[in-house]
Amino acid sequence: MKVLVTGASGQLGSTTVNHLKACGHQVYGIDIISSATTDELIDIKDKDSVERVTRGFDAVIHTAAIHGKHYELNYPREAFIEANIMGTLHLLNACVKNGVNKFLYTSTTSIYGNALVDDEKAVWVDELLGEQPHDIYDITKQTAEQLCKDFFYKEGLQTCVYRVGRFLPEDDNLKINHRLYRGLDERDGAEALRLALHTTFQDFEIFNISSGSPFGKSDLTQLKHSPADVILRYFPEAREIYQRRNWVFPKSIDRVYVCDKARQYLGYQPEYTFAYLLHQ
Ligand SMILES: NC(=O)c1ccc[n+]([C@@H]2O[C@H](COP(=O)([O-])OP(=O)(O)OC[C@H]3O[C@@H](n4cnc5c(N)ncnc54)[C@H](O)[C@@H]3O)[C@@H](O)[C@H]2O)c1
Repeated sequence: MKVLVTGASGQLGSTTVNHLKACGHQVYGIDIISSATTDELIDIKDKDSVERVTRGFDAVIHTAAIHGKHYELNYPREAFIEANIMGTLHLLNACVKNGVNKFLYTSTTSIYGNALVDDEKAVWVDELLGEQPHDIYDITKQTAEQLCKDFFYKEGLQTCVYRVGRFLPEDDNLKINHRLYRGLDERDGAEALRLALHTTFQDFEIFNISSGSPFGKSDLTQLKHSPADVILRYFPEAREIYQRRNWVFPKSIDRVYVCDKARQYLGYQPEYTFAYLLHQ
């Protein structure tokens, strides 16, 4: 398949480019920053360049965005709207114009926003949880999701949305703790995107994508107040491994990202889980 990847110099984009190439796809990467995985410098805010570069592809995987770090750097709202909304709209229009069949959009679990807050128990975060965006980044990601939906039903473009979990650079302790309930290894993210290339969607679908969680709904209250007890119930060997590596368990777990829908629809099977890191 011929696939265009936006944000190809970024963390998820570069991993996706390499993964798809290793799986035999023909991949072309675009970004505004050069790197080994980017073939051409293209700004997605430039409508004409986007229209030109999307010709001849079977699918577009859209990971380019400005996000949390730009929010912390006080980028103006206009910058988010131009890159995340207008950039996405240019790509969607170009796909329709150029007969690209599929458009995979990487959104974020942070659009659940204030719905992730509960003083009593951890929140079960499946796709049925309502969105409550709480900043301009979330607002632009939510709007771009809605644009994807509009193009699915009105233009017949095979769009789908991936609300991906957290894959920021972190020390080993924080990374393994996050892998219990909200983390994503970008290699799992890239594989999830690959799976959707081969899926034909009857309806517009949104998927949470994380590296999975061992927990169930019956654990939610205890996770909030004494997560170590729950973790040790699932992984008794974790006590000795954490001690040996000078790691500490999380003091509280506030949410559990659930990716069962992606498992069922796409056959998604995260590999780089908590158990993987624990036994490495
Ligand atoms: N990293 C996370 O924890 C996380 C969590 C949730 C969602 N996401 C989403 O996943 C996607 C990828 O995130 P990432 O961490 O790999 O980001 P990243 O910052 O590592 O990569 C994004 C890339 O997009 C490029 N880009 C930005 N503006 C552009 C433009 N106008 N034209 C072309 N390219 C442009 C950047 O140069 C960068 O290389 C983003 O859509 C982000 O919103 C990331």
